[in-house]
Amino acid sequence: MITMMPEATEKTNTSKTPKMRVGILTGGGDCPGLNAVIYGALLRAAEETEKGETMIEVVGIIKGWRSFNFSQEELTPELVDHYTQVLDIGELDDLHTKGGTMLYTSRTNPFKALASITDPQEKEAKRRAIGEDLAAKFKTLNIDALITVGGDDTCGVAAAMSNYGNAKVVACPKTIDNDLAGTDFTFGFFSGAQLASNTLDNLTTTAHSHQRIFVVEVMGRDAGWLTLYAGLSSGSDIILLPETPFDFKKDVVEVLESRANAGYKYHIIACSEGAYPTSESLARDFTVISQKDIDNLPKDGFGNPILTKLNIADKIERELRSLKSLESYFNVRHAHYEIRSVVLGHTMRSGTPSVFDRVLGLRYGYHAMEYVIGGNFGKMTSLQGTAIVPVDIIEGSKKHLIPVDSDLIRIKNAMISVKHKSKEKLFR
Ligand code: F6P
Repeated sequence: MITMMPEATEKTNTSKTPKMRVGILTGGGDCPGLNAVIYGALLRAAEETEKGETMIEVVGIIKGWRSFNFSQEELTPELVDHYTQVLDIGELDDLHTKGGTMLYTSRTNPFKALASITDPQEKEAKRRAIGEDLAAKFKTLNIDALITVGGDDTCGVAAAMSNYGNAKVVACPKTIDNDLAGTDFTFGFFSGAQLASNTLDNLTTTAHSHQRIFVVEVMGRDAGWLTLYAGLSSGSDIILLPETPFDFKKDVVEVLESRANAGYKYHIIACSEGAYPTSESLARDFTVISQKDIDNLPKDGFGNPILTKLNIADKIERELRSLKSLESYFNVRHAHYEIRSVVLGHTMRSGTPSVFDRVLGLRYGYHAMEYVIGGNFGKMTSLQGTAIVPVDIIEGSKKHLIPVDSDLIRIKNAMISVKHKSKEKLFR
């Protein structure tokens, strides 16, 4: 247990000790490991405070960017009080073991106004004005520097306030989607992948009992990392990813036929929420969705399509249900033909972080505070190999999808193509 030493408290009261107030906020979708980052930052702040060189007060900023979205006039002392809270490490024992974020989160986008501006020059001028305004809010919120913990959207806001307003910001990359270029892994990813893998494993018993096809929708937006890791880990029979649009006939129907032919009575399809059919397959094989449905999905505060509204697993289920020829193919081989779809959704972001995510979160938070102390602003913490290194926020938060020529994709293809060659081993 770490508590503030009385010595440090004494130093707190010594007017000679410079004091720094460092804000920390969590933005975007939550994930396991956020609290570990907060705790890591608190540990480094406590360490520095104990040295007696700088007294660091860590200020939790509540609900992502929400407080930054108020105008200076609206940010009354009461509101500032409502949205900020000094964090005392002595009261937050073992915070890194807890899921979610104690600071709450939101998808508030301070740059939302940019979406309706079409003229590039006007857009850039507005972006600059907002960036400067956000940086000016530090004074109002009574912070000297800020650590932001979030995905590409949160990092984008942090980068803009740093570039345009010269704000003292350090970012920590977070997302279960693992889709950021500047880091080998984001925390939250392995916790989410493990939960998805466990569910895919578990579903095989009910799928087996009823002789069913299960289409399981996995989060991850336009990145297939979660589906690929969970699908490979659990041995899913078909794995559909956004990076490699699928042909319904070849990648789903024909694989199911081969499996039924080999005597398999149940089948698990791991499907990314952002996995779409090729345009040819969409036009040829889909009656329940069209390109228009995909293009017109509702969007969140940062303009990301809300993919659960499409619910691709349900659409695949419905197309499969209508395939009478496939049903006969199954029945002739004494296999029952029934399909169910399941959306894992937010269950994947729930619960406590894995060991890896706890430790990575602690390291990100600790190093982020280290950058703040060293004046190394405009940087994002990143995992490279086994080391934590600073990278530029904009560069680091660029999109990173699964390379289609990666060994992971080759392993997936190899696994799926051999799976139906062996006979079903469970009871008939
Ligand atoms: O980006 C993380 C993520 O969990 C995506 O995988 C998913 O599409 C999205 O957030 C869901 O967002 P929300 O929590 O706003 O429904």
